Amino acid sequence: MKMLSTLMSTTLLLGGSSVVSAIDVDLTSASSIKSTAATIAYDMMLYYAGNKTGGIIGVLPGPPPNPSWGYYWWESGAMWGTLIDYWHYTGDTSYNDVVSKGIQAQVGENQDMMPSNWSQSMGNDDQGFWGMTAMLAAELKFPDPPAGEPGWLALAQAVFNTQAVRGDDKCGGGLRWQVFPYLTGYDYKNTIANGCFFNIAARLARYTGNSTYYDNAIRTFDWVTNVGLIDAEYNVYDGAHIESNCTDINKVEFSYNVAVWLLGAANMYNYTNGSAIWKTRVDGLLNTTLTTFFPDGIAYEQACEAKLSCTTDMFSFKAYLHRWLASTTQMAPYTYDLIMPKLKTSAAAAALQCSGGSNGRACGLSWSKGSAWDGTAGVGQQMAAMSAIFVNLLPLESVQPSVTNMTGGTSSGNSDAGSHSSTNPTAVKPATGGDKAGAGIVTAIVLVGATGMFGWMSI
Ligand SMILES: *[C@@H]1O[C@H](CO)[C@@H](O)[C@H](O)[C@H]1NC(C)=O
Ligand SMILES: *[C@@H]1O[C@H](CO)[C@@H](O)[C@H](O)[C@H]1NC(C)=O
Ligand SMILES: *[C@@H]1O[C@H](CO)[C@@H](O)[C@H](O)[C@H]1NC(C)=O
Ligand SMILES: *[C@@H]1O[C@H](CO)[C@@H](O)[C@H](O)[C@H]1NC(C)=O
Ligand SMILES: *[C@@H]1O[C@H](CO)[C@@H](O)[C@H](O)[C@H]1NC(C)=O
Ligand SMILES: *[C@@H]1O[C@H](CO)[C@@H](O)[C@H](O)[C@H]1NC(C)=O
Ligand SMILES: *[C@@H]1O[C@H](CO)[C@@H](O)[C@H](O)[C@H]1NC(C)=O
Ligand SMILES: *[C@@H]1O[C@H](CO)[C@@H](O)[C@H](O)[C@H]1NC(C)=O
Repeated sequence: MKMLSTLMSTTLLLGGSSVVSAIDVDLTSASSIKSTAATIAYDMMLYYAGNKTGGIIGVLPGPPPNPSWGYYWWESGAMWGTLIDYWHYTGDTSYNDVVSKGIQAQVGENQDMMPSNWSQSMGNDDQGFWGMTAMLAAELKFPDPPAGEPGWLALAQAVFNTQAVRGDDKCGGGLRWQVFPYLTGYDYKNTIANGCFFNIAARLARYTGNSTYYDNAIRTFDWVTNVGLIDAEYNVYDGAHIESNCTDINKVEFSYNVAVWLLGAANMYNYTNGSAIWKTRVDGLLNTTLTTFFPDGIAYEQACEAKLSCTTDMFSFKAYLHRWLASTTQMAPYTYDLIMPKLKTSAAAAALQCSGGSNGRACGLSWSKGSAWDGTAGVGQQMAAMSAIFVNLLPLESVQPSVTNMTGGTSSGNSDAGSHSSTNPTAVKPATGGDKAGAGIVTAIVLVGATGMFGWMSI
């Protein structure tokens, strides 16, 4: 991974012999934060080729093996979400058009964020990440798609509706990792797939005021705690297999897993006008987030950072960790004083680690190592560093919290979206022989790369 990432940085980042200075940010200055985030965003977007000949609009190059490096489809959706937050915090509209067109290009034949092109690697979490991006666009009043295209809210509702009917009674409920039975990992029920669904349901409840979403979020939270994927101390584990009735819990902990549940719980807290039960859950999840993932106030992906054994996916998790913590301070404002100091120390460390590559400012993952670049680079690392930095505008400027349809939200919705299209997986074009073989290779590579350390990785 390290070698591949370095290759990417030399291939895709600005070449040239002169090394410019590393990232230098003053976190007490809004203009410094904005210009730093803009630089990191610019370097990140050099990886995107969707707007160039041969590229696919809306998606980053990849995944392996063709080319041998690259990104799974979900990470592109995650990147668009990060750029929506980027615009919201900084006011920089530079990427809005590319973001909007990128999402619209990937809504899929049934406008449910499940394009058949990606049916060989479609997890509920993959679809869920695009759904959370659509939800964010609605919440932040990101400019609407043109008339005739589905609204951001409708896209989030479509993801909700397709997934609400997809659970089964194995392990007493919950979503499987993969959408389709022919995909490896269909027998795994994992925390991120259910966490994305919970997160979207909670946010739809708050945005629309429709209690159906709230009920589904509660059902999902009850399941994940009953089965023990979130334990009584609010440790958040990765997943378990249906063959064992989900008793073989894979106890690896990733920062995005706890963060996706934390932000969902904060939205439930907000929707219920500050109920005691959701406060307890926010407190517990926040405690885990800060104690497990912020040693010394600096974000640390403890499952893979020490040996830099992170997969491409994992290099991006800190992006969601910081963005979702920041949003939590707005949904549950009493958490601000606990969260904001960590976001500040973490951002300072992240900026120091943007000191590598041929341009001297590629961001690594190892934020606790100061300015000694760890030799890794990629979309995930850029996205993580820029997120950590731009959320520090919270104490400096008036960053508006997510709206609802009662407080100015106007995104066009459709509570029926997706409910006719995707309840039946066989409606999606089945794999051809060739596609299947290709998918098998991808899966094998993923498993060889990940089983040693992680057993089953998510996404
Ligand atoms: C491609 O880039 C151009 C110039 O930045 C922009 O005007 C256009 O909207 C982009 N197209 C897509 C599909 O993103
Ligand atoms: C689907 O894949 C084909 C072949 O790679 C590509 O040409 C097309 O643009 C893709 N469509 C979408 C919506 O991504
Ligand atoms: C399977 O797990 C679920 C959830 O923990 C539990 O409710 C159910 O009783 C278990 N079934 C068996 C047969 O052990
Ligand atoms: C908000 O959305 C809900 C559910 O779709 C709807 O019942 C309600 O009328 C909407 N409120 C406003 C102000 O648009
Ligand atoms: C929260 O408070 C608002 C305003 O008082 C009220 O309309 C709404 O019903 C309350 N929500 C819940 C879930 O209690
Ligand atoms: C819900 O979020 C809004 C927007 O940030 C905030 O003003 C309000 O205080 C929150 N509600 C609670 C109960 O904290
Ligand atoms: C945070 O979690 C730790 C470990 O589970 C626990 O000992 C501690 O009491 C918790 N703190 C709070 C404030 O809940
Ligand atoms: C609430 O959402 C559910 C699920 O999508 C939908 O069936 C129902 O019609 C919605 N209710 C309202 C009042 O919009």
